[in-house]
Amino acid sequence: MARLTVNGRSVEVNVNLSTPLLWAIREQVGLTGTKYGCGVAQCGACTVHLDGKAVRSCVMPVAAAEGKQVTTIEGLASNGVLHKVQKAWVDHEVPQCGYCQAGLIMAVAALLKDKPKPTDADIDASITNICRCGTFQQVREAIHAAAKA
Ligand code: FES
Ligand code: FES
Repeated sequence: MARLTVNGRSVEVNVNLSTPLLWAIREQVGLTGTKYGCGVAQCGACTVHLDGKAVRSCVMPVAAAEGKQVTTIEGLASNGVLHKVQKAWVDHEVPQCGYCQAGLIMAVAALLKDKPKPTDADIDASITNICRCGTFQQVREAIHAAAKA
């Protein structure tokens, strides 16, 4: 049993403390926007924010999230207004199948918080998410657009 704060809401989750945060979010909290891809911290589909930093929730034990703010894709918009990264994603028609996109958006939102005007090198270093549909070019364009917003 653990108490988490997810998207500003305090929730109790009935899991072992070593359970990956991803499963607590999806199966206990019921927020399924965060996806399971590889389960070994390689693809980024499961990316959420922990106190504003991007983390791969498939390898993050619930214990590590206790006392911290967890933000998922469902909590990124504010009062019904899309986050600038979400807006750029829509404007640039980034998603194809969409499976990887929540993780990508969360990773990019964290990058822009740290580096509001990232260079291509910054993007290459930080955004290591895998997209099987190959949306990488649109992702890069949308990141630069979001940085100008
Ligand atoms: S599912 Fe977590 S990095 Fe792939
Ligand atoms: S949009 Fe399909 S895997 Fe990225």
